[in-house]
Amino acid sequence: MQKKILAIETSCDDTSVALVSEEGFVYGMVSASQDLAHQPFGGIVPEIASRNHSAAMLPLVEELIKKTQVLWSEISGIAVTNRPGLIGSLIVGLVTAKTLAHVHNKPLLGVNHLEGHILAPFLFDTERSKPQLSFPFIALAVSGGHTSIYEVQGLGDYAVLGATLDDAAGEAFDKFAKMAGLGFPGGVKVDQLARTGRVDAYEFPRGLIHEDSYQMSFSGLKSSAQRMIASIEPSELQAKLPDLCASFQEAIVDVLIAKLDLAMKKTKIKTVVITGGVSANSRLRSKAQDWAAKKKFDLHIPPIKYCTDNAAMIGYAGALRLERGESHDLNLGPSPRVWPEDFKSGNFNKGRQARVQRS
Ligand code: KG4
Ligand code: ZN
Repeated sequence: MQKKILAIETSCDDTSVALVSEEGFVYGMVSASQDLAHQPFGGIVPEIASRNHSAAMLPLVEELIKKTQVLWSEISGIAVTNRPGLIGSLIVGLVTAKTLAHVHNKPLLGVNHLEGHILAPFLFDTERSKPQLSFPFIALAVSGGHTSIYEVQGLGDYAVLGATLDDAAGEAFDKFAKMAGLGFPGGVKVDQLARTGRVDAYEFPRGLIHEDSYQMSFSGLKSSAQRMIASIEPSELQAKLPDLCASFQEAIVDVLIAKLDLAMKKTKIKTVVITGGVSANSRLRSKAQDWAAKKKFDLHIPPIKYCTDNAAMIGYAGALRLERGESHDLNLGPSPRVWPEDFKSGNFNKGRQARVQRS
């Protein structure tokens, strides 16, 4: 009989709860986006994020219970993101999870958000059959707070091969969108506008693309976009946006695929995963499909609802850890950082030591 793990994710600005099995089957997931609350500020305001999590949390848990018709007696454990993330946001999820675990006498599992993203491609549901995916694989976790490449040998066996040295790719998308007057969060809007633009209309730098290392850099691209936008007459900007977006997006996609290509070549691993919010990008998805088909790699990109922050991925990681006999005490705390023991440093770094980005 499949276990049922109730999971909570509140590390950033999405409140999400889900019920998941240790096979990765998602019985149900309900989430609340805070995009509208943060939009006027052009970025995530931590204080507002915590407040919105706390308002949304219990109604979402109730909705999930109603939707899945699960009984508390059927739930085997409570999983919650406890690292990394915004501390105030993490605390809301953590306190809720601890209370539920205590009141219903269930094991508590604190999950690393990045482990959730790495394992998200295993998730399936009534609309998606079980993916034929197995370890080892190379994973690119690319989102608003992190852009890293991992060699994944098994559950809990993650080596960081490399990461961005400055901005995360999603952060670069969001900052570019802000400069171009597209609002926040901008990744989706850039993606949409880019569909009618030319990818070679503007020349943007592809930081470190030819370096024999997995390190990435998107700050030069951001400055270049800033200069480019400043050089365009404000009255002409609107008409030029599709070309600007397409060319900017292409630079990010090219760097991400080049670094994945290097990882596949050096590790000789044939399976590759792209996950995290930016893996919702349509150009990244289609270019990665073409690349993988050409190189005969087995590529897995989760459906968009499991790419962006979601509780299902946290529930799956928690379920697997519970299977291994792990659980946490009720004194488990939140952390803004990835604990050093969560990830090993990969063998293939050149230059600066790889570091894991904050989520
Ligand atoms: O994983 P996620 O939901 O939250 C973090 O852990 O950061 O990722 C959010 C990021 C944002 O920067 C957002 O702009 C970006 O993912 N994003 C996209 C797209 N959808 C979301 N970036 C480019 N194209 C998209 N379609
Ligand atoms: Zn994330």
